[in-house]
Amino acid sequence: MSTKTIAVLTSGGDAPGMNAAVRAVVRGGISYGMQVYGVRRGYNGLLNGDVVQMNLRSVSDIIHHGGTTLYTARSPEFNTPEGVQKAANQCRALGIDGVVVIGGDGSFRGARDLTHAGIPCIGVPGTIDNDIACTEYTVGFDTAMNTAMEMVDRLRDTTESHDRCSVVEVMGRRCGDIALNTGIAVGATAILVPEVPYDFDRDVIQRMKFTQKTGKRHFIIIVAEGVGHTAELAKKIEEATGIESRATILGHVQRGGSPTLRDRVMASRMGFHAVELLDQGIGNRVVAFRESKVVDFDITEALEMKRVFDKDLYDVALRISI
Ligand code: F6P
Repeated sequence: MSTKTIAVLTSGGDAPGMNAAVRAVVRGGISYGMQVYGVRRGYNGLLNGDVVQMNLRSVSDIIHHGGTTLYTARSPEFNTPEGVQKAANQCRALGIDGVVVIGGDGSFRGARDLTHAGIPCIGVPGTIDNDIACTEYTVGFDTAMNTAMEMVDRLRDTTESHDRCSVVEVMGRRCGDIALNTGIAVGATAILVPEVPYDFDRDVIQRMKFTQKTGKRHFIIIVAEGVGHTAELAKKIEEATGIESRATILGHVQRGGSPTLRDRVMASRMGFHAVELLDQGIGNRVVAFRESKVVDFDITEALEMKRVFDKDLYDVALRISI
């Protein structure tokens, strides 16, 4: 039996492109003859019945907006067996027989639990961090990297004028992908990521001193959030090199802004794929992007996969950013 009424929610940290994914689920669902509900503020909305019926026009003019028009939240109540049962009961009361959850790993654990409680769920990877093991791409990653790149380009102007070193922390939780890609794009002298242990003298100071000898007078060092200690690093760099150094933590600015084309298109493809699965009566899957194709994996298996850091790309960065 195919699913006739589905719901969509966004959960965890927001990411640019989530609106495009919601739009794809709503319009995709309607194209399959389904009724589609929008759930506000993540799993909290399921628990509180904060649910609205969506139509084609409910998702007009949102594809280019950052954030999520459905709002998002982290829900401690849902993270209990009682909370999951309550949410499943709410779904049954509302006639919802499938849910698309747009978020990260934490949100997918909720989707798995809700599926086990009898409501088939599909996860769509939405997080700026690109830290979900089963997929090569998460919605929001491209916009966040472009925002970080633009911010560092601005910083470079003042860093260069003062012959300084800017130590810039970018987001990513425990994942170094934003740092690696932004670091390459801005030509950072050093890129510190949690996946690769570093030696402060060899990997930062000696690289700076080497490039200084070749005529370089200003420096950008990119630090992933998962490495941290950014202010302390800037201080240590100044002490070790005598080069005036400043720390900048880009922070939540990286989560905002109009999604890039890549994020809008990926979100649209992934959101639509989620609807296709629910239409076939399939639940407990995570939509993923692998080898240029939209695919899907069992949620439990997806959550057990280990992320592989692109060490080859990291090595390229080290060789050319000098
Ligand atoms: O997962 C997205 C993210 O922005 C991470 O990069 C960061 O570690 C975290 O969320 C910040 O969370 P919060 O918005 O709760 O401060």
